[in-house]
Amino acid sequence: MLAYSGGLDTSVSVKWLQEKYKASVITVTLDLGQQEDLEAVREKAERLGVERHYNIDAKDEFVRDYVFPAIKANALYEGKYPLATALSRPLIARKLVDIALKENATAVAHGCTGKGNDQVRLEIGVRALAPHLKVYAPVKEWGMDRASEIEYARRHGIPISVKKHAYSIDQNLWGRSVECGIIEYPDQPPPEDAFTLTVPQERAPDKAETVTIGFKGSVPVSLNGEKMDGVSLIRKLNMIAGAHGIGRIDHIEDRVVGIKSREVYEAPAAVCILEAHKDLEKIVLTGMEIRFKELVDSQWSYLAYAGLWFEPLKRSLDAFIEAMEGRVEGEVKLKLYKGSAMVQGRSSPFSLYDFDLATYDAKTTFKAWASEGFIELWGLPTVIARRVLSRKACERRVNE
Ligand code: ARG
Repeated sequence: MLAYSGGLDTSVSVKWLQEKYKASVITVTLDLGQQEDLEAVREKAERLGVERHYNIDAKDEFVRDYVFPAIKANALYEGKYPLATALSRPLIARKLVDIALKENATAVAHGCTGKGNDQVRLEIGVRALAPHLKVYAPVKEWGMDRASEIEYARRHGIPISVKKHAYSIDQNLWGRSVECGIIEYPDQPPPEDAFTLTVPQERAPDKAETVTIGFKGSVPVSLNGEKMDGVSLIRKLNMIAGAHGIGRIDHIEDRVVGIKSREVYEAPAAVCILEAHKDLEKIVLTGMEIRFKELVDSQWSYLAYAGLWFEPLKRSLDAFIEAMEGRVEGEVKLKLYKGSAMVQGRSSPFSLYDFDLATYDAKTTFKAWASEGFIELWGLPTVIARRVLSRKACERRVNE
């Protein structure tokens, strides 16, 4: 069972597994909204002589079970990366295992290199779900550089598509990850041809656009008042926000394997939805809840990033978040303008915002007289500590 993208690495992997291990190879490709012709991928696999090929439409499952939990957790790795690639890997592992069991396969294989996070995510996923399956990673085994790989492909009649650029790209509904080439020089600006979902700020329209995202049960359910399933909503918002140049991310990232890398991402819908979701939480949750949830969110993002999707702690964090997030419901208005998505207003049936308490009007219900006693008690530990410490400092000075 080989996770197959149709690219050079996985195509060479098919031949290599057939040749070196005399394996009969079954390939599987998931549709995660990467906007690729999967029938062409199937044809390519079949021309390589695979036993069978599976194209699986996993878009709904991806959004429901991977993207939605990430939204609830405000998931941004190191405060910046919305985790598009990371979220897809446990799903790919799950599908590989499902089909491997159905086909009585003895091993699964993938085309990840030895330097990235994806190998960690896929291999831990497979091991956690089906420990009896062997895992092969041809790219890690064969030690070919790009030129030898192309030569190998030529010898085995693998069609090589000449690409206009030298990037390694991974894409799904939640975003696009771009690596390699000039991007590896962190002092250089990301080149324009690295982007396909967004326009540069200076080409974004001069007229701002407002979108309203509706949330229920902490996940987006409507766009500008129109009810929409998750896949359609994300797809539509990617187009709207991308046209305003929103969602470009340039990130120095700490990989689990210890490398610092420069990553470029495009995630127009993710940037808008996460911004709106976090804002809505602020009006619905108490300050105590928000402060504590920040710790949970950050740990959740780390586990998802680091290949620990199936770690029991992740399930416990999901349960915690679920318990808190039921009331995150309402609408958030975002102004989209030249690369930025700015919150302009929010409302919720569960809003804790009390106008009469908050207003500076004379008729406020806030009991201002109570603040005197409050400050006295709230500051008590600080005042006492300062008094003791300054006395000690004086004594030290006298003794010197
Ligand atoms: N650095 C990102 C991550 O670890 C992106 C990985 C992109 N993967 C790829 N095969 N191009 O999630």
